[in-house]
Amino acid sequence: MKFFIDTANLKDIKEANDLGVLDGVTTNPSLMAKEGITGAQHILDHYVKICELVDGDVSAEVISTDFEGMVAEGEKLAALHPQIVVKIPMIKEGVKAIRYFSNKGIRTNCTLIFSAGQALLAAKAGATYVSPFIGRLDDISTDGMVLIEDIRLIYDNYGFETQILAASVRNVMHIINCAKLGSDVITGPLSAIEGLLKHPLTDIGLATFLADYQKGNS
Ligand code: E4P
Repeated sequence: MKFFIDTANLKDIKEANDLGVLDGVTTNPSLMAKEGITGAQHILDHYVKICELVDGDVSAEVISTDFEGMVAEGEKLAALHPQIVVKIPMIKEGVKAIRYFSNKGIRTNCTLIFSAGQALLAAKAGATYVSPFIGRLDDISTDGMVLIEDIRLIYDNYGFETQILAASVRNVMHIINCAKLGSDVITGPLSAIEGLLKHPLTDIGLATFLADYQKGNS
């Protein structure tokens, strides 16, 4: 299972990378804006900085919503760095753009996936990744894990090579459930990734070991 971090914050990316478990980065226009990264050139430069920090795939999202615009933008993004994966929204023009990029050998991440039908269509178009947003489904009281399970079943039934990139992951439970269901990748914030290493009994156990060592050696 691959771990991606879902942020444009260079400090968080470096911290996750230093842990030695990071396989890539996902961003979106909201995450860029949150870091104050605005203006076309500034945004492109930021993608390059992320690629230089991490040895893995970096999803860069197009802003256009028409086929020609997505193609022009996506080609520019893909030319930035070999690690760039062009992130395309699940809309009609986006499906056409995914097919176009797939034919050209440019990798894509189909974003804003909320149904198994959308994931099936993206795979048919040749997407490298699909991003089902499980946290946002949870937000509307819909079980995001059912979606991961359905997509896994469909992809396995037909041998689709498109990777399931569980997105909008918010916590440790999301990561564990995705792992149990066979999601290929998760992307979440640093807090969710670091959350995996925490257990109160670990902290208590370590404190006891260190105290006992001190007693024996003082
Ligand atoms: C996916 O690639 C998106 O960037 C992201 O996971 C959305 O997460 P959110 O619902 O926490 O904003």
